[in-house]
Amino acid sequence: MKTYNIAVIAGDGIGPEVIDEGIKVLKKVAELDGGFAFDFTYFPWGCEYYTQTGRMMAEDGIEQLKKFDAIYLGAVGFPGVPDHISLWDLLLIIRKSFDQYVNIRPVTLLDGAHCPLQNVERKDIDMLFIRENTEGEYSGAGDWLFKGQEHEVVLQNGVFSRKGTERIIRYAFETAKKQGRSLTSISKANALNYSMVFWDQVFEEVSADYPEVKTASYLVDAAAMLMITDPKRFEVVVTSNLFGDILTDVGAAIAGGIGLAAGANINPEGTFPSMFEPVHGSAPDIAGRGIGNPLATIWSASQMLDHFGYEAYGKKVVDAIEQLLVEDEVLTPDMKGSASTSEVGDRIADIIGNLQSVKA
Ligand SMILES: NC(=O)c1ccc[n+]([C@@H]2O[C@H](COP(=O)([O-])OP(=O)(O)OC[C@H]3O[C@@H](n4cnc5c(N)ncnc54)[C@H](O)[C@@H]3O)[C@@H](O)[C@H]2O)c1
Repeated sequence: MKTYNIAVIAGDGIGPEVIDEGIKVLKKVAELDGGFAFDFTYFPWGCEYYTQTGRMMAEDGIEQLKKFDAIYLGAVGFPGVPDHISLWDLLLIIRKSFDQYVNIRPVTLLDGAHCPLQNVERKDIDMLFIRENTEGEYSGAGDWLFKGQEHEVVLQNGVFSRKGTERIIRYAFETAKKQGRSLTSISKANALNYSMVFWDQVFEEVSADYPEVKTASYLVDAAAMLMITDPKRFEVVVTSNLFGDILTDVGAAIAGGIGLAAGANINPEGTFPSMFEPVHGSAPDIAGRGIGNPLATIWSASQMLDHFGYEAYGKKVVDAIEQLLVEDEVLTPDMKGSASTSEVGDRIADIIGNLQSVKA
């Protein structure tokens, strides 16, 4: 039997609460199949660990994580620890150290999910965002000179390497080709006269290798508007680190809310483990009450199943989420329900348990 070794970083706030439910679902899927299993190893890293040790993760944390097949992350960040520390010293360091240069965020409006848009058909919101995940505006390059002085200067540099830009765009073309869908590039070449002119040029160059993929290109401001006024334009989307971060929150808002938004950080070559996580943060305002919505974390478990080649199970998990939404009975308060986090996880596991085995 194949066993997948998963490193679990439940993290802070509602992280541990929602991750428990994702693990429940993964175990259920493995049980249903009978041909593979998961072994979960927990790491106590996050803000509490930081207050005790002065570090967000163990000094050799990256080395420890290297040997796992995947990382399953809840959320990090808690009042008392500056957000740039909790983000950089755990999440971003993992994404960069493990060259997880592809961030995949589905923006799909499931049946039963709330959509605030008028005059939009449900099937029109079905996008797959492919966001550059290791460089760009989040490269961390910059400086803070003359700190605290009158002539203080802050530099935050965007880094767009040819390798980094080309590989994310190529990955997006491959995905669009495989799915038989169009590819939209989102940039901002009118104002960002080096980085985004370069981005557009590389997009143009790579597109020559994929004549069968229909393409479009928008400025990020126009794209933000069009996602709301005409979302069906967008199928597979490729964009930079910052733009992808922001636009996928717009995506979350139109596709059922932040409680449903999932993300995968992929190292396509498989040299290092990939990482799966909900898009939302640690929600300190509701932490400890057992009411955090676990659906985003469960959806990211479906992305893990896809990544391991069990796409049929990945789809079953998303189908189970859709069934739960349509039933409209076991939902957390953010979705106007009164169920607890674990009741939602139990119901999803029940629905999956009733599905036929789908040997992948
Ligand atoms: N990937 C990550 O780990 C990640 C992402 C974003 C923010 N953060 C961190 O999380 C902390 C809180 O940030 P924030 O408040 O801006 O964002 P947040 O996503 O934690 O919360 C925003 C709002 O959405 C609600 N919410 C979020 N997820 C929910 C869920 N699953 N179920 C029900 N309600 C949910 C929260 O209660 C809150 O009202 C900060 O420290 C921030 O740095 C971490």
